[in-house]
Amino acid sequence: MTSAQAAEGPTKTAPRKHSWSLRTRIVAALAFTVILLSGTIAAIGLTSLQASLIQQLDGGLRALSSRVMVTSGMTGPDTPGGPGGDLVQLIDGPGVASGAVLVHVDASGASGVLLEEDFSTKQLSAEQLTAITSGWSDTPTRNITPGDGLGDYRFHIEQRGGVAMIVGLPLASVEQTISSLGINMALVAIAGCLVFGFLAAWYVRHELRPLEKVADAAEGIAETPLERGEVHLQHAEEPGPNAAGEVTRLVSGFNSMIDQVTQAFRARHDSEEKVRRFVSDASHELRTPLASIRGYSELTRRMSLELPKDAEYALGRIESESVRMTDLVEDLLLLARIDEGQELTSQPVDLTTLVSDAVNDAAVAGPDHEWLFDPEQNGAGAVTVTGDPARLQQVLVNLLANARIHTPEGTTVSVSLSEDTNWATVCVHDDGPGIPAEQLPKLFERFARGDASRTRATGSTGLGLAIIDAIVGAHGGELRVTSEPGDTSFIVRLPKK
Ligand SMILES: Nc1ncnc2c1ncn2[C@@H]1O[C@H](COP(=O)(O)OP(=O)(O)O)[C@@H](O)[C@H]1O
Ligand SMILES: [Mg+2]
Repeated sequence: MTSAQAAEGPTKTAPRKHSWSLRTRIVAALAFTVILLSGTIAAIGLTSLQASLIQQLDGGLRALSSRVMVTSGMTGPDTPGGPGGDLVQLIDGPGVASGAVLVHVDASGASGVLLEEDFSTKQLSAEQLTAITSGWSDTPTRNITPGDGLGDYRFHIEQRGGVAMIVGLPLASVEQTISSLGINMALVAIAGCLVFGFLAAWYVRHELRPLEKVADAAEGIAETPLERGEVHLQHAEEPGPNAAGEVTRLVSGFNSMIDQVTQAFRARHDSEEKVRRFVSDASHELRTPLASIRGYSELTRRMSLELPKDAEYALGRIESESVRMTDLVEDLLLLARIDEGQELTSQPVDLTTLVSDAVNDAAVAGPDHEWLFDPEQNGAGAVTVTGDPARLQQVLVNLLANARIHTPEGTTVSVSLSEDTNWATVCVHDDGPGIPAEQLPKLFERFARGDASRTRATGSTGLGLAIIDAIVGAHGGELRVTSEPGDTSFIVRLPKK
């Protein structure tokens, strides 16, 4: 089924949902850059700090190692034997930090001591000794985790002959410095990013506000009906003197575009007004001469009985054409007046009686059609709307005249009336041949006619539906049509208040 709407609104592209606003994008990109940058700086800082702390530790280790070597008498490359004194004496010297470990390895096996926090010494377990003495390659310094209560250590090895002296210092302080600095840096970075994010969001919002105003103004224009009448388009608010150059350019470009468009619409409105006034004046002026032509031709035809047949026919034609022209002029005048926005009267109208009378009149005018209307169909209550009774009557007369004129004899025309809380609906249905689908979209336009040769003879002006549409529109209602062969409905919806 095809349908035509009284007024087709401008086609709008729905805004895409779920797409990030420009503001969010800019802030997200800035925040991402800041996070990446601070992450990189923190990583580089921590790595180089760790390297320099380990270098320091290695220095300490080497110093401790050479002192142990000297004290133990293992100075020369070929100095044989074990430590000069026992390990406890070697490690428990001045300046040795607590946690230091000393391990001695020779052919008879490995032994080692740990300098505890209270500077007492403790023998290392076999498990710890295995971890410390195994896995050495060329490098004299490496990290080992001896386990069994000892954390990560840095060890340095010195070998003389078949004897090795390994000294170790705990990595705990290095690790602690790095981790606490890392945590501090992360906290500062998070706080910094948050503050930066808020500031950036505020700043970007502030800078983009004029663009939002432009978008608001553009949306306002998209919602303004531009098809006819006087058009008022809103300018976008001018940005402040400190706004970015591009924004100022955009806003002023937008506003001058609005000025141009407004001027064009004003020119169109003025010329529409002129045409309307001309049509209104011309039809008004034509009424009197037309009435005279009609009157005189009728008079002459009645008075002169001896007129030749041809002259009588000609007078009859003059009379019928002047009637048709009077109808056309009346329709044009009415349309011009509705277009001018001439006030409709506003009073309660009993639609049931109005429809009932109109159907009865139509039945008299078209006795060869079947006319159906049951005023009782919705129960006893009358349907009432607020509006102009004369104009509403014209709507019904035009619709019923169409159903009579544009359908063949024997067609059934059924009229129904219904209402809900806010709307009253009149439907005029006929089972005639229907309206061609290609004609439907332009049906309510002025001078829209189907088969001109067929309808012209029957007093068709092509203005009937345009008038209905204008009257219904002026009442705040809507006119719709659906049509296919054998099933044509014109539906008028009128607001009750
Ligand atoms: N009930 C109908 N059945 C078939 N065609 C119709 C019907 N009503 C209107 N039309 C078509 O719509 C055209 C426009 O109608 P209208 O504006 O009233 O002008 P007019 O009746 O003066 O021709 C008609 O010429 C006719 O072709
Ligand atoms: Mg008509």
